[in-house]
Amino acid sequence: MDKSELPIGFMDSGVGGISVLKSTIELLPNEDFLYYGDSLHAPYGTKSVEEIKQLTFNVVDYLLSKGIKALVVACNTATSAAIKDLRHQYPDMPIVGIEPAIKPAVMSNQGGRIIVMATPMTIKQDKFHHLLSLYNKDVDIVPLGCDHLMEFVEEGILSGERLKIYFDEHLKPYITDNTETIVLGCTHYPFLYPYLKEYLHNDHIHIIDGSYGTAMELKRRLEAENLLNNKNQGHITIENSLESQNMIDLSWKLLHMPTFEKC
Ligand code: DGL
Repeated sequence: MDKSELPIGFMDSGVGGISVLKSTIELLPNEDFLYYGDSLHAPYGTKSVEEIKQLTFNVVDYLLSKGIKALVVACNTATSAAIKDLRHQYPDMPIVGIEPAIKPAVMSNQGGRIIVMATPMTIKQDKFHHLLSLYNKDVDIVPLGCDHLMEFVEEGILSGERLKIYFDEHLKPYITDNTETIVLGCTHYPFLYPYLKEYLHNDHIHIIDGSYGTAMELKRRLEAENLLNNKNQGHITIENSLESQNMIDLSWKLLHMPTFEKC
């Protein structure tokens, strides 16, 4: 088999990375994909760096054993904790990660506040502080560690009273009249986009995520290494460490949700 015909491996701590898979399928419809959600060990965002590294390597080793031509770490938390080590361990594998879309938010900024929602672990990491230091000179950027927000998506809760209470407590205090952009810096959060939009009730606030940028980067890497698959009719496989049909059904349901704004 030609290497370009192998699937692209995707991993996340659960169903969140499906938001990145979705953008990637739109861009690369001929590719085969193997998605692995580690819901059994979710959330990653409240664990230690060492634990996240170990869990990430376990999933990546499994994907590699299945035969993949490239890897997408479709999890901001796993990217910040493990991507350096992954690249070191597998220097021949194209590996693409995701980080909060601060750069595009700042590029289009008109002077208003930018709120970055992400897991507590992503926000604690040096990688995030470095990213922030590149862009926060003249811009009001507020990092917001959203403890346990991803669990709503893992449970398939995408709207309703419990989420309203969460946003009232954790997000509302940071929304000012001049809030311009909310960056969804965890791959689970884009599935909350429709409800968040309704909750904010303010068309002037942009809500963006980094999935399209990640998909574009993957395309560039595959092109550069002559690994694009133009022959196939794309095929998608979804697996989950919880081994429950409910998680697989939820994953497909999320994959088929309408598309959100791009950045
Ligand atoms: N989806 C993951 C991210 O992008 C994190 C969720 C978690 O496991 O805490 O950061």
